[in-house]
Amino acid sequence: MSVKENQKSFDEIINFIRERFNEPEEFIPLHAPYFGGNEKKYVMETIESTFVSSVGAYVTKFEEMMKQITGAKFVIAMVNGTTALHLAMLVAGVKHGDAVITQPLTFAATANAIVHAGASPVFIDVDKDTLGLSPIALEEWLKANTSVSEHGCFIQSNGQRVAACIPMHSFGFPLYIEEIIKVCDKYGIPVVEDAAESLGSYVGEKHTGTFGLLGTFSFNGNKTVTSGGGGAIITNNERIGLLTKHLSTTAKVPHAYEFSHDMVGYNYRMPNLNAALACAQLEQLDKFLENKIELSKLYSAFFKNRNEEFVQEREGTTANYWLNTIMFENKDEQQLFLQYSNDKKVMTRPIWQLMNKLPMYKSCLAGPLPNAQWLEDRVVNIPSSYRPV
Ligand SMILES: Cc1ncc(COP(=O)(O)O)c(C=O)c1O
Repeated sequence: MSVKENQKSFDEIINFIRERFNEPEEFIPLHAPYFGGNEKKYVMETIESTFVSSVGAYVTKFEEMMKQITGAKFVIAMVNGTTALHLAMLVAGVKHGDAVITQPLTFAATANAIVHAGASPVFIDVDKDTLGLSPIALEEWLKANTSVSEHGCFIQSNGQRVAACIPMHSFGFPLYIEEIIKVCDKYGIPVVEDAAESLGSYVGEKHTGTFGLLGTFSFNGNKTVTSGGGGAIITNNERIGLLTKHLSTTAKVPHAYEFSHDMVGYNYRMPNLNAALACAQLEQLDKFLENKIELSKLYSAFFKNRNEEFVQEREGTTANYWLNTIMFENKDEQQLFLQYSNDKKVMTRPIWQLMNKLPMYKSCLAGPLPNAQWLEDRVVNIPSSYRPV
């Protein structure tokens, strides 16, 4: 198969994207941030106040806004999504030498954070319809490979404790999180939900990230809402919420002037400068989501009668359509389109390389991964930025 055979079909997609972004010639990014609100005002206010670091009114305001948006009782602003995952795992009880289950189709940060916590990842397959961790594959693997005692869930082959499970809502598509929680409850495994990509995504009326013991978010520049760099941990558990905040702020014991710390803490709290940007962005979240969902509907209608499949939210859920996602019929077509579209200055990208293929994770335990492999060979993300009206 060659580009030539596909050129007409690829051009149709590219022309459709160019028309939607009203950009006939120039480069179209995959996802660019949009600063159309109070960003400059709030950031300047922060500079003028001199409170640019982790103590400041915008950090607290950001946490309050995130509580409103997610419905979580506790929100802790963090420097990024990776540290949010790291600290969430520590607070969930992950210790050196433990195993943590996650999906092979995720951004490397999910697996990296597991190693930062001293544990090793175990990769379990995803579902084709959600691109997220499969509750069926998870249960099958746990049933065949672990035994549960009063001390926890242990892997029979190496004696490792399964200390947590981290499902991830890929590109903002809500996975079968309630079913995952049910399986994990049965085996006594706490769930840390990686909701880095799913701000504004819901299962029923409940925001993603609020199902697990803890949930984490990223506010990196490529996300729906950005703080430059930033993250958040959310939880409904008071003990966990207070402990997380304490550990993220160097475990400093509150006092007017004395310096005392009662645990090995982390300097993981989001600076006020970043929180100022985040607050201005969060004020526009509804507008961003409406705009992105409108774009997803246009894409959905366009791909309806074509060979590529446009990935949709599963029934009963609302996706934020952070990155619009299509699936080609096979790997050849996927690769040809990636090359062709990027050559034509329309940014597209494949789904991540499976984590278990990366050199540092090659030797990690994994279940059978047919769906993850199938998706790796077909999925492409297409431009999804907010389009100013
Ligand atoms: C699924 C997922 N997890 C974790 C992260 C890490 O977030 P950050 O880049 O803010 O550290 C990201 C994105 O960047 C992500 O997409």
